[in-house]
Order: sequence, then structure tokens, then C-alpha cells
Amino acid sequence: MFERTKLIKNKIEHLCKTIEEHNVHYYCYDNPIISDSEYDVLMNELLNLESMYPNLITEYSPTQRVGSTPLESFNKIEHSIPMLSLSNAFTSEDVELFNKRVISSLLKKIDLRDDVEYFCDLKLDGLAINLRYENGILVHGSTRGDGYIGEDVTANIRVIRSIPLRLIGDFPKILDVRGEVLMYNVDFENLNNYNIRNGGRVFVNPRNAAAGSLRNLDSKVSSMRKLRFFAYGWGKIIDDQSAPNKLFKCQYKTHDSVLDWFISLGLPVNKRYHKVVSGISGILDYYNSIVNDRDSLPYGIDGVVYKVNSLDRQEMLGYSSRAPKFALAHKFLAEEAVTQIIGIDVQVGRTGVITPVARLKPIFVGGVTISNATLHNEHEIRRKDIRIGDFVVIRRAGDVIPEVVYPIIDLRPVNTTPFHMVVSCPICSSSIKRIDNEIAYRCTGGLYCSAQLKQGLKHALSRKAFNIVGFGEKLIDKLVDLGYLKSLVDVFRLSCSDLMKVELVAEKSATNLLRAINNARKPSLSNFIFAMGIRHVGEATAIDIANNFNTLESIIQASIDDLLSVKDVGSKTAESIRLFFSEEHNIGIINSLKSIGVYPLSDEYYKSNNLKLLEGKLFAITGRLPDYSREDIVKHIEDNGGRVTSNISKKNHYLIAGESSGKKLDFAIDNGIKVIDQKAFMKLIDL
Ligand code: IVH
Repeated sequence: MFERTKLIKNKIEHLCKTIEEHNVHYYCYDNPIISDSEYDVLMNELLNLESMYPNLITEYSPTQRVGSTPLESFNKIEHSIPMLSLSNAFTSEDVELFNKRVISSLLKKIDLRDDVEYFCDLKLDGLAINLRYENGILVHGSTRGDGYIGEDVTANIRVIRSIPLRLIGDFPKILDVRGEVLMYNVDFENLNNYNIRNGGRVFVNPRNAAAGSLRNLDSKVSSMRKLRFFAYGWGKIIDDQSAPNKLFKCQYKTHDSVLDWFISLGLPVNKRYHKVVSGISGILDYYNSIVNDRDSLPYGIDGVVYKVNSLDRQEMLGYSSRAPKFALAHKFLAEEAVTQIIGIDVQVGRTGVITPVARLKPIFVGGVTISNATLHNEHEIRRKDIRIGDFVVIRRAGDVIPEVVYPIIDLRPVNTTPFHMVVSCPICSSSIKRIDNEIAYRCTGGLYCSAQLKQGLKHALSRKAFNIVGFGEKLIDKLVDLGYLKSLVDVFRLSCSDLMKVELVAEKSATNLLRAINNARKPSLSNFIFAMGIRHVGEATAIDIANNFNTLESIIQASIDDLLSVKDVGSKTAESIRLFFSEEHNIGIINSLKSIGVYPLSDEYYKSNNLKLLEGKLFAITGRLPDYSREDIVKHIEDNGGRVTSNISKKNHYLIAGESSGKKLDFAIDNGIKVIDQKAFMKLIDL
């Protein structure tokens, strides 16, 4: 390299490092050591040099945060370790229960004499993201998505200044950093004021503004919105290729020490509000101090988070399918508001439970307009003396369904009417009754009740069950209303002409749908069990049961004791499974399914024989396909193990091209990427 270029390269590197260090002072330590204008001088110097020597620009240079060309859609990224959720608590009693559970589980493994040490943190009200660093360089950022697969929002992540584009210090080969992207209140207000003046979108709260900005296809838009980031955890960490997460676990024993390490890598961590405390009194003191400070924080929080601080103990406590057992979100009490009940309807759920729902004068609570709220059951309505016409307090806590809390008797108008429980099912007119000591009334119509049937079919055909792509909720409603579907069995008896009678379906899509139905005849045992909609049997339990018994027959014959021997199956679940398979009607459905060739294969068989057809294949799509929406074709690709990219590059294996294909087609032809049409694609996946 020429001496001069080397000098310039060094100068650029030096400027990058200096700016990165100032970012760390600003974002990690909240303690800038130079003024904003001094920072700008450094940035300008770097920009000048880079404009003269564009070939010396690195992908991690602080100037490379301006946003790139808008995307058509986001690619998907599979998380190497799932991004789980947190269990919630709303009261100190819930928190005490959590602490007791932690203690009793630990006592089974270790001799525990002192209070458990907890790491306390704020529960930031933003969006969870995963940042992947490889050899210290940020390679991608993704949203949480469904916890397993998120969206690739790298371009938008790169414009967030508090996220380092490269790490400093002692970083591992691979590091998945997890944390929250959020918007400070002041930036939210400025953004909305600006948008009001300029006719832009007005966001309801900082969280929505952060989400809208992070998920904007145009990263130039994101770059103008001031997003922030704080790291609170991690996913995969590889120091030593052969033993992921091992080396670092020898080095770091507690949650707080890992976060200190993160700070040394230049990652922003909300240390000011972190506290390591002892036992239940420690965590409740922390909660109370944060409740006091809440309004003075520059950003929104919706509670606090407690984690067992010792990493060894975290491992001992383990995970449930959706959340770690060593952590708890202690949420703030929900937001409340007053509005009037204009009517009370009842809804019929999948298992026939009849739930009274209040129709409300629409009201804005905690960032959304609410016009319905649950009244839970008749008993609650009587107990609280809630009447139609009453002014009531409604409550909305996080994502929980809004509820009517109590009526304001002082405001009661003269002409309120009490609620009377329906005497028969409003959908199918069957009688309703209470089962055993349950409070809820249930419709006795079973699958004769179209509401139960519709909900049951929606569940049975959903992704984690029979997973029939293209069989949406509206189609189910229509087919039930027209009398084509009276049970799950009928789904597999549908003919093309049946489908064509529903105006929602055109001939081509009817053929495709029938193929998809046909393809779903041999689900895995766990999907089949989940599809049955047995009470208390969620996705994780269905998998445990399937792996334990291996065949449907042995599950049908299993005794309560057999069932109880399955991990995580308690007596309630065991009884419910037994009850389900002792009902003639259910066995009848299973036998009818079998007689038309619909039966499950063991998960084991499924895994070894049903190697995904498109595993490892990268697809791009262009133009309009004759019979499939984008969403459906993407689903087909992903269900078969392939991935879809929004743009095309040389890495793509296939381009699926439809009508009025654009630039992607030219690129594929120029670069020898296989171009296929819809028909060829269907062949690829055996449809
Ligand atoms: S720890 C296994 N810490 O809360 C999940 N989460 O309800 C570990 N959140 O999706 C998460 N602040 O987006 C953790 N200090 C914090 C948090 C936090 C906000 C969010 C996060 C997560 C959700 C779970």
C-alpha cells in the first residue's frame, strides 16, 4: 500500500475509534466528555476524508448510519436461541409466590440458606431486538417476531446511534445481544409536533412511534427518528466454536457481571437503574422506589424485571416453553378510565364458554381506543352490580383484554337495566349450563354450535395444528355458515365445486387449497394432538405427550397415571386428556378422519423422513403470481424450510417470477439464478 494511503487509512481508523469512544461515553455512561459541536467537528473531518477516499470507507464507520435504499419487505431471521417472553405479576402477592417457587425449586438442587440474590431492572416499554455481532462487527439486527423467527431490520438498526457498529475490548467470536429499542418521550413529542405541522403520521405513544420507525421499510425515515437502545440480556455467545456459551459461563457468574462486560464492549446498558438485591424485601423495595421515580424517567416503562442473579441458578431453574422460570416482570397497575356501558352481548368461545362483553362508548386508554371490555361472567356482574347504562371504570393492563372493573354508583343514571344471562346459546339455541363447580356457563351444543365449530376449526387448521395454508378465518366462517363444514372431517371431504360456491374462492385457488388440504393429511402427532383443542393442552404439552407416547392409540388408551408421568402434565391436564378421549363423539371424529386417510405420524418419524424440501434454499419473488398472494407463497416456502429475501442477490437459489416481473428478473437472468414460475414452484414442494 502507498505510504500516503496507509496514513489516510490510519487517520480514518483513528477518527472512527475516537468517535466510537465518545459514543460510549454518551450512550453507555451517560457522561459525554466533549460538546455536541466538538463531536460534529470530528464527524465532519471523517466525512471529508471518506468523501476523498471512498474506497477506505468501512461498513462500521460512524458515517454509515444514514439509511439505505428502501426495502420491499423484511427478510426473516431465525433466532439461534428463541427470544422468550416474561411471566407477569401485578401484585406483591404474585411476586411473593414467584420468590417461593424459586426457593423451593432451588432447594431441590442445592443447600440454600440465605435469601436469593436478584438482579433488578426497568421494564422498558419498547421493542425487543436481537443484535448479532460476529468478530466484533454488527452483522444483523432482528425483531423478536414470534420468538423463533423475527424480521431482519438491520438497515434500521444501523441508524440507531447508541448501537455500536463494532465492539471494543474483549469480544467473543459470536455474540447475540438482546435488548430494547425505544424512543425517549421528548423525541416522541418532537416527532409528533413535526408530523402535525407537516401532515405526517401522528403516533399514539412512544412505543408505537418506536415500532413504526424500527419497522419502516425505508431506513432513511428511521434515521430521522431518534431511537435508543439498551441491552438487557443475550442469546448465543460463542467463544470457542465447539462449546457455545461455555467459556463465557466460566468467566461470568452473575447477570450483572455480564452486563458490566457488555459496557466494556461499548454496549449501552441501563446501569443507573440496575440494582442487585436480596430476597423478597429487596425486590419490593426496588419496585417501590421505581414507582416513585417513574414520572421523572425520560422514557416509558411498564414495570420492573427481576432475574435470579446467579447464572448457575438461572440454569437450574430453567425455562417453560414461553418464559424463563428465573425471571419475572412486575408490571405497574393497569391504566384505568371511565366510560359508559351501552349494551352487554355474550360471546361463545371454542369450548362453549359464554362470556358477557360490555359494549362501551369508545374511550382512549393507554394508547388505544377501546369499545369492548370483558365482564368475565354473570357472577362477576351480579357481585359488582354492573348494569347497562352505568358509568364504569375500565382497566387495560398491557396486552391483557380490557375489563370492566366496577360501576360508579354515584353517577348511575335513572334508567339503567340489569343484565340477564341468556337462557340458551345465542348462536345455536342449545341450552346452557354450568359444569360441576365452574362459574362459567357453557353452551351444550358442542360442535352443533356454529360458534364453537368455527373457533374449533380455526384452531385445528392453524399453523401449529393442521397448518393448511390459505384456509383463513373468513373462509371457515363462510363454509360453516353454508353448511359445508360440520366437523373437522368435512374439511378433508371438500370438493372443488364446494369451494367454488364460496364467492371468496376462485377456481385456481380452489385447486391449490385442495392440494394444501390433501397435503395436510399426515400431520405430526404433536400437531394432531394440539389440533384437537383439548383443554389445558397447549403446544408445548402436545409435544411432550407426543414424544412420550409416540402413537395416537397409546395416548387414547393412556391412564391418568400414564399421563401424569409426562413432564409438566399435572392432574388437571391429565384428567382433561382422559375426558377428551373417553367421549364417544371425539373418538368418532378421530375414526372418521382415519377412514379417509387422515392420521398422525410420530414426531420422530416426521423428523427423520420428512426432511424439509427447501431446506437451505433462498428464494426471491417478483411480479404477481396467478393464484397465490405473497403471504401464502412465503408461508409455503418457510413451511418447507426455505427462506425468502426481499431483494435478490447472487446468494439466491431461485427467483419465482409472476406477471409483470421487474428488475429482479433481469438480475436473475444476468447472474444465472434459476427462474421458475408458480407451477414449477408447486412441483418443487410436491403440491
Ligand atoms: S428480560 C426471556 N429485561 O419485556 C425474556 N425484558 O415481557 C427476557 N423488556 O420481550 C427479557 N425491558 O421486550 C427483559 N429489562 C428488561 C426488559 C425486558 C423490557 C421486554 C422485552 C421482552 C418483554 C417480555
